[in-house]
Amino acid sequence: MMTPVASPSHDFSVLFDNIANDLRLNGFSVQPMALPYDFCLDLRQTLLGLDASALKKAGVGRDARNHANADLRRDEISWIEPDEGPKDEWLQFSACLQQHLNRTLMLGLFSFESHFAHYAPGAFYKTHLDAFRGQANRILSVVLYLNPGWTDYDGGEMVLYEENEPHEKLCSVKPELGTLVVFLSEEFPHEVLPAKRDRYSIAGWYRVNTSTGTRVDPPA
Ligand code: OGA
Ligand code: MN
Repeated sequence: MMTPVASPSHDFSVLFDNIANDLRLNGFSVQPMALPYDFCLDLRQTLLGLDASALKKAGVGRDARNHANADLRRDEISWIEPDEGPKDEWLQFSACLQQHLNRTLMLGLFSFESHFAHYAPGAFYKTHLDAFRGQANRILSVVLYLNPGWTDYDGGEMVLYEENEPHEKLCSVKPELGTLVVFLSEEFPHEVLPAKRDRYSIAGWYRVNTSTGTRVDPPA
């Protein structure tokens, strides 16, 4: 198995600098082939190997408003906890990116959470923000795609929109294996368009530490 972080042949410093520069200039970054191909395939195999009970219909926040959610999103998710193998390597990679962005952009990122996601054919996630300004402590969103050989015909793009302009398209990202997207959680409305194939990804969020305790999590 690949060790994306520890291996000297996988130096992420150029990738991390590119992400930091994009974030500084534009608030978002799209990086095709960001992680080693074989490592992404290992992550994909880990996701495909989850048993059906590990993947749950995604909700919004952690409360019980689930009846409304199917209109907004139709993905199934499984939170990533420390483990052996590819999940740990993903968490190590995320920790290295966190450290780099804290050093270069002074973002004060404090913790990271992420989940595997599966969108069945036709599933979508309508336009949403990952965090609401002033309330949320989600600062930075990260998505890694796990679909080799994705074509334009397959659909399933993630579309990012201008801040406060949910109809002004900024960019559209094909969910091809290895593509990494990073963006400021409070700034960019985005959506997942329905796909013709099963669509696999990891979505994650860096938080700052607000430690006020009782607040309900914002929409994912
Ligand atoms: C999310 C999300 C985008 C994607 O889970 O909040 O926006 O392309 N995911 O999977
Ligand atoms: Mn989102």
